[in-house]
This record gives sequence, structure tokens and C-alpha cells, in this order.
Amino acid sequence: MRTYQPKPNLDMPPYVIAHRGISAKAPENTLASFGQAAAIPGIDMIELDVRLTKDEEVIVLHDRTLQRTSTGNGPARNYSLEEIRKLDAGSWFHPMFSEQRIPTLGEVFRKIGSRLWVDIEMKSDLFHREPLGLMEERVLDVVHQYGMDDRVLYSSFNHQLLSNIKRLKSSAVTGVLFDFLHDFGRSPSKLAERVGAKVFKCATRELNRHMLTDAHHHGIAVYVYTLNSVKGAQRMLSYGVDGILSNNADDIVSVVKSYGGKR
Ligand code: G3P
Ligand code: CA
Repeated sequence: MRTYQPKPNLDMPPYVIAHRGISAKAPENTLASFGQAAAIPGIDMIELDVRLTKDEEVIVLHDRTLQRTSTGNGPARNYSLEEIRKLDAGSWFHPMFSEQRIPTLGEVFRKIGSRLWVDIEMKSDLFHREPLGLMEERVLDVVHQYGMDDRVLYSSFNHQLLSNIKRLKSSAVTGVLFDFLHDFGRSPSKLAERVGAKVFKCATRELNRHMLTDAHHHGIAVYVYTLNSVKGAQRMLSYGVDGILSNNADDIVSVVKSYGGKR
């Protein structure tokens, strides 16, 4: 598989990134959701969220706690991987997904790593601060173990984690997530460059042309989330973004990939 480049070539359409997999049609952050993304031609990448278990294994889960997307309860960090593996992570979405489990990052790589790039969003909590560098080291280990070093993007709202990733592995490609409350007033290039990031990610409503111009002027790629309608995707295409994250990437991919405009 090709090496991941943060910016598509200028004459190419933006990347289509399946946000938590095809999460509109399968339970988010599960192998079912990622498998659906891998089956659709034109989808370039999946986005997923990572956290640590009690025994410091890297699992793919959005929330700090288990109850919204599984049969578990309370913070995932309080449970071992063995305990987490027993939970049903699909029935909340639809009974037909009752066999789905909360996957490890390695299991996701095994399923789709030969076909798709992976945007790994490292979650960090106000309630529980991981020891400095712990999650970063664990994630880098798994990425390396599965031969995914040149196929991933590391992103986070916590830019310190991205700085740590670069310190541990200088060739890693990182992306700053824009946190409106924390980052308002700071330019995309400033936020990205101070931690060596090559990608700036924000919500569609947060992006304006000034930000886009600033990022592109400094060679920083701009990805937006979460665009679920063809109409919304078309608007962002005309802006010239470099990546579009969508919960139903399968529905927008043909429109995005047939876009003739220059970025
Ligand atoms: O990575 C972009 C987006 O996923 C950030 O927000 O809450 O969906 O993880 P959230
Ligand atoms: Ca995310």
C-alpha cells in the first residue's frame, strides 16, 4: 500500500475519511464499521479513537466510559482487556451487530491495514491524565508491530500528545485538532507548526477561508469533520479542503472523487 501523504496531489480530489468507520450504518469504532469502509472503492482512510485499558492495551473507543456504546459501565481505563473483550459493542446500534466487540488497535490494523490509511485520534481526559508519554509509546509500539508506520496519521485535541509523538518518532505525521475554547484566535499554521504537525483538523462550522489560506500558505493540510450530506461535501470541495471526514463516507465518496475543481 502507498505511503500516507498528509496532502493529496494538487490535481487530485480530497481524501475521503470514514469517521469511526461507516458509523452511520454500523456501530462506530468496530470491525464491522471499519470493514464496511474497506469494502468501498475510493475511501482512503478511516478515523478512530484510542484509549488505554487498565493493563495498558490500546483499544478503539470514543467515550471515556463504556455505557453509550457497549454493555459495560464506567471508565474503560478501570477494566482489563480481557474484561473489555466480553462486552457487546454492537447491540446498542442494532441487534444484528451483537457479536461486535471493542477492538484493539492491532485488530483494526489486521482487518483493514493493507487497504486503508488510519487516522488515530488519541483521546485524553480531564478526569484522568495518563502518565507522560504512556499512551503515545503504546500507540507507536502497536503501529510499528503491525508495519503501519508510514500509513497512519496521529491526531489529538491535546497537542502535547502530538509533541510527544514527534519526540519519540520524528518521522511520524501528526495533525492538530482545533479546540474552539482552547485554540480560538490562534491560526492553523501557528497551532500546527509549534508541535511539528502537517495537518489541521476542525469542524466544518469552525473553518473560514482565512484559516484555509493560512494553512495552505504554510503547507499544512486541512481536514474537516463531520460531513454527512452530499450538499455539505460539495461546499467544502469548493473551499478546497484536503480531507473530508464523514459518518457515511460510502454516500459521499463518488461525489468527492469525481470533483473536477482544483484544490
Ligand atoms: O477527528 C475528528 C473528530 O473525530 C473529533 O471529534 O468527538 O468525533 O472524536 P470526535
Ligand atoms: Ca474522533
